Amino acid sequence: MTVTAQPRVRHDDQGERQATVRTYLMCPPTYFDVVYSINDWMDPTEPVDVRLAMLQWSNLVETYRSLGHDVVFVDPVPGLPDMVFVTDSGVVVDGVAMGARYRTEQRADEAEHVLRWFEANGLISPTRPEFVNEGEGDFMVVGQTILAGTGFRTDPRAHAELAAHLRREVVTLNLVDPSYYHLNTALGVLDDRTIAYLPKAFAPESLAVLQQRYPDAIIADEADTAWLGLNLVSDGRNVVLASQATGLAAQLSARGFVPVPVDMSEFRKSGGGIKCCTLELRGVERTRS
Ligand code: ARG
Repeated sequence: MTVTAQPRVRHDDQGERQATVRTYLMCPPTYFDVVYSINDWMDPTEPVDVRLAMLQWSNLVETYRSLGHDVVFVDPVPGLPDMVFVTDSGVVVDGVAMGARYRTEQRADEAEHVLRWFEANGLISPTRPEFVNEGEGDFMVVGQTILAGTGFRTDPRAHAELAAHLRREVVTLNLVDPSYYHLNTALGVLDDRTIAYLPKAFAPESLAVLQQRYPDAIIADEADTAWLGLNLVSDGRNVVLASQATGLAAQLSARGFVPVPVDMSEFRKSGGGIKCCTLELRGVERTRS
């Protein structure tokens, strides 16, 4: 891997939204299962179809590749059924990596495996945090700013820790609805200044911050967020989102984005979706030989 200053612009059609090529870290759902319950979505008595999960995840990988993005992989580890949700294990900006520290014992070891991957792949100063942070589950990069959730998982003290390590402005947002326990279930980043979010997931003062900073945001409704529609991945033009989130897809089209629907229904049983499975490595490009 090499660290680069800027993402490459892939196409810049006149008047159209521009996509930039991304590098995504993903983890195969080889050991995916729901055997404990650490959020309201998880019911260990409901069976998971691991074969179907693998097909859905592989289709997500192919979707990214067909859009021109690079996908790299960290090996799955037996006994870590949530490791497929690799976005929770770190944040990478300008090639600099911050590791995670999980709130729950069940997921604790995931952070170490991904941190070792950061080290082995040449990311800059990969760091074990002091305070609980669940990576891009709660940290969302919007241009030069990082929106940071707290209330269920990430410790608010981790927000200042992240700001110091990545040298970015970090804005605290308080989450209040247990169905939307990670920021990335309640808010999606579409480009460097455009977001979509579900108002009822936020405390009043945090909602005021979002309204003031992003007056032209897309406001999602629960018919879409119940399918984890906001747990999306955008390259600035193409927005990969849950196929069931049809209302949100229509709103995106009306704003000039291109919705790319993908079905991740098996992962919803664990409270996870597209974004949870996708950690963007910003400022990192795979070295091609
Ligand atoms: N079962 C996992 C957990 O509760 C799902 C995590 C999904 N990730 C996310 N960023 N929402 O931790």
